Amino acid sequence: MLPMSFPFFSKLRHHKEHLRLIKNEMQRVRAKIASQATDFQPHVREYMTHLCMGRGKMIRPGLVLLTAAATGGIKEEHISFAALLEMLHMASLVHDDVLDKADTRRDRPTPNALWGNELAVLLGDTLLAQAMVLGTRIGDLRFNQRMALATRDLCEGEVEQSTRLWDVAMTRAEYYEIIRKKTATLFAMAMSGAAMLQGMQEEMVEHLNRMGTLLGISYQIYDDCLDLLGVDAQAGKTLGTDAQKGKLTLPIFFLMESDNEDIAAEVHDAVKNRSGFNLQRLRQTESFHTALRLSANEALELNEEAREVLWRLPESPAREALAETTYRLDEMLQECCNGIFIHS
Ligand code: FPP
Ligand code: MG
Repeated sequence: MLPMSFPFFSKLRHHKEHLRLIKNEMQRVRAKIASQATDFQPHVREYMTHLCMGRGKMIRPGLVLLTAAATGGIKEEHISFAALLEMLHMASLVHDDVLDKADTRRDRPTPNALWGNELAVLLGDTLLAQAMVLGTRIGDLRFNQRMALATRDLCEGEVEQSTRLWDVAMTRAEYYEIIRKKTATLFAMAMSGAAMLQGMQEEMVEHLNRMGTLLGISYQIYDDCLDLLGVDAQAGKTLGTDAQKGKLTLPIFFLMESDNEDIAAEVHDAVKNRSGFNLQRLRQTESFHTALRLSANEALELNEEAREVLWRLPESPAREALAETTYRLDEMLQECCNGIFIHS
């Protein structure tokens, strides 16, 4: 029988503290990503260097390294895996920014803003291909099969999302399934893949897969709240694109079910008629803040569930750091629904 709460996991105050444990390995992952551009001929290398030098939050590599450290130690394969996962994520963002017509990401102009959609799509493909090259250097067939399935899920989630824009018939369950695929798959892959490369039992691999899935869904809910609330300059990326494009996210579902019937009808009609939301005005309403709070609460529950998986791992500083990562996400959600979000 598993205990229901985790009183001994410390609550994180300094949000980068939990990453200190893997500081050196994270540096190696960054260096590995940066060095990938050298595989290309000079003209292409220029573009690839630009893409590979972007400073992301490195959440997925962080999960790989902490899970590896919590399950027996970080091996060379984990460094390559962390780099390949981040590159795959970067490739998906290059494409996503084309789809979302976003001009800023990680405080820099996006590839589509710099070089146009055509070249951006090709560069995203090139980055994806290079991530696959790195993957083949990890000579584990089961691992590579899992990686391929995760990549397929990521793409399928994105296709489903693009075909359900402005779809008033879409359900919350469908929303959850889309974000599981487009975001949580790579979080789940980070944790389960790290355990696989460690040679852990299948049961433990699946528990960690579940923890990654819960955290990934929770993170996407945070991101969806941020998009509606957003102040681009603070987030370092273009926000408000979900609402403009008709992406139905959790706060939008809550708005369509608001106790305030006028707001509920306004948002419902905006979706049905594809007329777009008056975000400026909605942000001034009580219903908007209630929708963000209710969304954040769902994500906080997922984090609580994710923490329960950690009891299955032996006690270690890395297990503590994984718990702290989940508390950090709690804080981000709380700050977001209080309207003082921060970009970490
Ligand atoms: C960000 O979502 C985007 C994703 C989570 C996945 C995007 C995936 C693709 C475009 C499929 C192509 C995949 C590959 C492998 C090349 P968001 O728009 O909600 O978040 P944002 O606010 O960070 O843009
Ligand atoms: Mg986007």
